[in-house]
Amino acid sequence: MEIGNTTLALYAVGAAVLATSLVKLKTRLELSRAKHRSLSGHSRLARRIASLVPFYEYDEAQFFCSDGAPEDIVARRRTGFARLSELYRERFAETVRRTAEVADGISDLQFTDAYRVPFQYSDFVRSRLKAGAFVQSSSGVTLTDLDGNRFYDLTGSYGVNVFGYDFYKDCMEGGQHRVRELGPVLGPYHPVIAYNVKRLKEISGLDEVSFHMSGTEAVMQAVRLARYHTRRSHLVRFCGAYHGWWGDVQPGVGNPVPAHETYTLKDMDDDSLRVLRKRRDIACVLVNPLQALHPNANAPADSSLIDSARSARFDRDAYADWLKRLRAVCTERNIVLIFDEVFVGFRLAMGGAQEYFGVRADMVTYGKTLGGGFPIGVVCGRKDVMKRFRDDRPADICFARGTFNSHPYVMAAMHEFLRHLESPQARELYRGLDEIWNARAERLNRCLRDAQLPVQVVNVSSIWTVCYTQPSRYNWMLQYYLRAEGLALSWIGTGRLIFSLNYTDADFEAVADRFVAAATAMQQDGWWWCDAVTTNKSIRRRILREIIAHRFSSTRERRKPASD
Ligand SMILES: Cc1ncc(COP(=O)(O)O)c(C=O)c1O
Repeated sequence: MEIGNTTLALYAVGAAVLATSLVKLKTRLELSRAKHRSLSGHSRLARRIASLVPFYEYDEAQFFCSDGAPEDIVARRRTGFARLSELYRERFAETVRRTAEVADGISDLQFTDAYRVPFQYSDFVRSRLKAGAFVQSSSGVTLTDLDGNRFYDLTGSYGVNVFGYDFYKDCMEGGQHRVRELGPVLGPYHPVIAYNVKRLKEISGLDEVSFHMSGTEAVMQAVRLARYHTRRSHLVRFCGAYHGWWGDVQPGVGNPVPAHETYTLKDMDDDSLRVLRKRRDIACVLVNPLQALHPNANAPADSSLIDSARSARFDRDAYADWLKRLRAVCTERNIVLIFDEVFVGFRLAMGGAQEYFGVRADMVTYGKTLGGGFPIGVVCGRKDVMKRFRDDRPADICFARGTFNSHPYVMAAMHEFLRHLESPQARELYRGLDEIWNARAERLNRCLRDAQLPVQVVNVSSIWTVCYTQPSRYNWMLQYYLRAEGLALSWIGTGRLIFSLNYTDADFEAVADRFVAAATAMQQDGWWWCDAVTTNKSIRRRILREIIAHRFSSTRERRKPASD
């Protein structure tokens, strides 16, 4: 009898263990299913593969025919490249000279300079198409370099420049005037802060505000608070989304260590909602609404433009519907929904992505433009998730401070910025914004199609990306032709064009004409040659073969005895 009871008990324990293991396995499988199939959905694998890619580069002969182009095309490319190189040498001489003097001592510059084009071409291009890193002034929608060349600015200063540089100069100067008596005093606040808080609460529709020094810091703080209040460990971000350079939000290539408490899930996908519904360790979901332009893809940079597979398509209704479903699951599961509006806040609409897509978040991070020209990061949130201490546990706090938070000059420039938003001109500017920018994108696309150029643009309002319509290994050359036509791009090249809202129709016409002229020159120089059998897939296969060959040859090199 006793043996019988013991056996039964063992069976029961065994069954319970099996059931628990099966539930765990199912939850694990659901997590795997919610990962995007691309490498950006698998951060560990991506990092491992990245560490295996060997350096190699094309010599002069390979540079011009890495796609197997015939002799006559190669000759055209050579002539075109030489002409461009000469133009750069003459036109940007002083800017390049001054850059060369400091480049050796500025790590950031060395990095951005090395990653403008796919690495196989990088050294060859860098030594012959030098543009320099200095500018001396900004005015209207233009920048002027040290040689006096004026460029239409498509960099948007990483998204900071929403209203035009002259506006920010006014914010900075006007703000400085307002707080001059206080100067750089930190700790106590200047009274300008009261208005900022009031306006930010109104704009975000949330209860409290905290000030930080950068978008990255604002995201760190929002996630830390979500973890503190939910007592859960993990954050969810969506595949490809950028949220600054803090390790937890950058689990893949670029971060030397794994982010153990981050789940990267598929954007706009029910599998991800299933994970959010099931798991009990998720504190918050971070959304960068800019991903609506290219869900699940990394921010497009020309350094990874190895073929023409870059794609983008913006469907406002579909994305709004996704955000609504996400909102519902987060509410149901008590997960903190954070909109990271560091980029799109104040750009898509006065009330940012919340207003634009008609969905409310529990916390919103802002940055970039909100500083009125100065560095800034802001978190707005519901009262219950912003609190940094517990009334019933005085030693259990959520610490966040920062020497320069609420700096008087930053607060004052922000004050000017927020006051401007209340003006009739600002309200007028936001009206019909999408129609204006969609019409401009369509107009440029029509010109490009009419000229039979293999290039199209896709946009979310004033944020654009360039896509390529036929397979090519040389699309990244377009950034150099655009510069030669007087269009300034940021270091990621044609992946992001960011317009400020003070672009007039005439300004835009000038940009469109120059864009078409640049693409026409590039086509005439033969860079978009393509035979009938070339596909994006065949290009990638070719590169993979090169990588494997170099990988093995470099392994052999390393194994050679020292006396060889
Ligand atoms: C959506 C988003 N979040 C966070 C950041 C990081 O902001 P910062 O560069 O000010 O640290 C960025 C920067 O581009 C961003 O676009």
